[in-house]
Amino acid sequence: MPRIYGAEVAGLGKCLPSKCLTNKDLEKIIDTTDEWIQSRTGIKQRYVMGEGETLSDLCVVAAKQALDQANLHVDDIDMIICGTFTSDHKLPSLAALVQDKLGAKNTGAFDINAACTGFIYTLVTGAQFVRSGASKNVLVIGADCCSSQIDWEDRSTCVLFGDGASALVLRQHDDPNVGVQSSYFGSDGGGKESLWIEAGGSLMPVDEEVLKTKKHRVTMAGKDVFKFAINALSTSAKEVLSQEGLDSSDIKLLVPHQANSRIINAAAKRLDFSDEQIYLNIDKYGNTVAASVGLALRDSYDEGKFKSGDKLLIIGFGAGLSWGGTVINWSID
Ligand code: COA
Repeated sequence: MPRIYGAEVAGLGKCLPSKCLTNKDLEKIIDTTDEWIQSRTGIKQRYVMGEGETLSDLCVVAAKQALDQANLHVDDIDMIICGTFTSDHKLPSLAALVQDKLGAKNTGAFDINAACTGFIYTLVTGAQFVRSGASKNVLVIGADCCSSQIDWEDRSTCVLFGDGASALVLRQHDDPNVGVQSSYFGSDGGGKESLWIEAGGSLMPVDEEVLKTKKHRVTMAGKDVFKFAINALSTSAKEVLSQEGLDSSDIKLLVPHQANSRIINAAAKRLDFSDEQIYLNIDKYGNTVAASVGLALRDSYDEGKFKSGDKLLIIGFGAGLSWGGTVINWSID
């Protein structure tokens, strides 16, 4: 039997763009109200990229914080993986840009596109590198700039999203029971049209007709995604808990993808989690796509919501359709 290592979470980092856009600010741009947005989603504000800011720069700030906390030098990283669908450029990967800006010399780098499930896919992929012994220190990043992809005249989508970057360092540990444990993932590409950007890929490159019809912007069937999301979160949680032989009472904190507080609360109710066990920070950031779970991890850690020895349940869903989850046995204070 090959040896399995632990993939310990050794550091966390985050970075938001400088420009804060409150619901009140949006009232001046589109036909909406602070009351509508807060009551339907729990969102009070979000951050969006300002003049001269780039997603790769945000990632570098978040990555340096995570490396500092892990007490690691940039040359210690031997793999960089970014969850994103909005790299600075169509080519190359965001991970390659981050590698260059960090000056990391001993690493591979690649992206994963799993939309809002991106952080969980990236985290679990990074953990496989560490658990197998292929890598010693993996830099996991979740980052998106959705403000560049949405239709700012479509009030049913533009109020939901924000930009941001989060980072996490996975460090090899002798004990396989430390860090990232079992995972579960699901996919239903048949539901692609309920949350997608139709144009800009190889099938429909952007041309004048696309620009006119705005097919290069995010479109979403909100109610369909809402129903799907509650099931996706509960299924992901149940599958991971059952693989680990755990129930909700064993989990210190549920850290879900932050898309809508009503979706999270509805799923948590089905799963028998108390309000104290559920982490919500959607009010501050909106839905930051692949950054969201990492931002929630960093903020909940800073707020002292868990400590060494606690178990965290991470669950998410997004375009694809995609969904999944994992358990982290937390080991640092
Ligand atoms: N401000 C004011 N009114 C708005 C609005 C806004 N920003 N956006 C939509 N509306 C209007 C619609 O035009 C519609 O009006 P109508 O009834 O006159 O046609 C009405 O509000 C729809 O309201 P409601 O049925 O209460 O909406 P909802 O409860 O389905 O909530 C969402 C809408 C988008 C918040 C909800 O469906 C949702 O969160 N879906 C999941 C989206 C998501 O999480 N996506 C990301 C996945 S990773």
